[in-house]
Amino acid sequence: MELTGDSHSPQHQEAVFRSHSGEDLEVSITVEGLILTLVEDVALGNKKEHKEHGGSLELNPTDGLVDRDSQKLNECRLPPLVSALKASAEENAASFHFPGQNRGQAAPSSLTRLIGARPFLHDLPELPELDNPFAPLPRDLFWKRKNRQLSFSGHQRHGFLLVAVHVEEAIKELETEGLKPAAVFVVSPSYHGVCSGIGAISELCHKNDIPVIVDEAHGAHFGFHDHLPASALAQAADIVVQSTHKVLCSLTQSSMLHLSSNLIHRERICRCLQMLQSSSPSYLLLASLDAATAQLSDSKGTIFNEAIELAVETRRVIKHIHGISLFDTANFPSSPAIDPLRITVGARELGLSGFEADDILCRDFGVASELVGTPSITLAFNLGTKREHASRLLSGLEYLSETSPHTNGLSAEKEANATALAPFDDFNVVLSPRDAFFARNRKVSFEDNLGKICGELICPYPPGIPVVIPGEVVTERALKYLLHVKSKGATISGAADRRK
Ligand SMILES: Cc1ncc(COP(=O)(O)O)c(C=O)c1O
Repeated sequence: MELTGDSHSPQHQEAVFRSHSGEDLEVSITVEGLILTLVEDVALGNKKEHKEHGGSLELNPTDGLVDRDSQKLNECRLPPLVSALKASAEENAASFHFPGQNRGQAAPSSLTRLIGARPFLHDLPELPELDNPFAPLPRDLFWKRKNRQLSFSGHQRHGFLLVAVHVEEAIKELETEGLKPAAVFVVSPSYHGVCSGIGAISELCHKNDIPVIVDEAHGAHFGFHDHLPASALAQAADIVVQSTHKVLCSLTQSSMLHLSSNLIHRERICRCLQMLQSSSPSYLLLASLDAATAQLSDSKGTIFNEAIELAVETRRVIKHIHGISLFDTANFPSSPAIDPLRITVGARELGLSGFEADDILCRDFGVASELVGTPSITLAFNLGTKREHASRLLSGLEYLSETSPHTNGLSAEKEANATALAPFDDFNVVLSPRDAFFARNRKVSFEDNLGKICGELICPYPPGIPVVIPGEVVTERALKYLLHVKSKGATISGAADRRK
């Protein structure tokens, strides 16, 4: 590109650039030169489209820009992570994972007009081929050094204990000790899409002036369609945290914190956020939240029509695939609702664990699931899920059904692993997570930690749910489970002993 104006002087806000094809392009420039990149995009092959759309700039991932760029990229040796990201984005995957914009398929148009679809195409989660920043393979990737910091999560900082309780009983129990909870914290929906009765919990808590905090990470889309569960905000929760990127279409990491109550001190929340947040906000992430919101309001109430229809249809077909079980409302009769966009399947009757079934679906059908565990696989449908994705999933499940022996269950060994090891309902917490985290600790090998108080947050991925938290005694069951999921291909994050 040739510059014929004076772009270096702040006085010159207009300049003429000559594109590679020899056309002159008039643009405004900023002193920082931010717009230069945009202009180059236009110059490299998008000018035609720019004209056709009456001034709106739409960058298509398969247009001239991409070809030239990929050519250039292929010519030089790419740094390992860039190379891995490029390869992963080029996969023709049937994605049933986060983020909800689904490799650009449902990227909000207000933002693609500005930056094109390619950033969305490359906005990928911690897929197996991309390594996991929380448990990197021993390669020379820059994030290795950060591992320790990243596992520093909320409960270690603030010292509260996480306990599963029946809310009414817990409030009464504390009352007998002369105590009152500062807040009730609920995760709803679960990763599998199971919702709690937030309305009833809010009513009960508010009678006692107790605020309700809901981790609605998986439910930012709730309330935007008649067939979706009601949102926590609509059920009078006081603080709601949503991972907007998970099902809606903002960029990865962008989330929202909603406050809706006079039981909450807004200024205090702001002060806390100041302590936790970076002092360098990303306007790209912020704008992606804005764009995702605009995308929803553009077609209020109907935007999820197709996605829900496809998920319901897929569910209906899966029900008839012999040997494949489907996690359904019947499994959770006490739950007020289940997200229709989350589908969890098991292949236990075919003698396959979730990990084994997922391996085949991924390798032979290019199906990329969101969550894998010993008993099941969870698939996240979203606005970018295409009929072709659902067909590949169904073909994969049918293939499993046709090619695996119908054993009516897992082998004795697998059965023991699946049922005896999970769920973890016998945890023994002897120190608060904070005390355990800040205590002087000693490194021991994986085999030697049985019966010791854990100082780390040990989390296999998948499924990404901590098995042992700081302050908890390591049980034989937990240890066996970790070794089992590791043998099935999971990576274990958080453990100082990285050999296992
Ligand atoms: C229940 C729950 N809450 C919070 C989070 C963290 O959300 P984020 O990925 O937006 O940090 C997750 C992540 O999967 C989750 O499952």
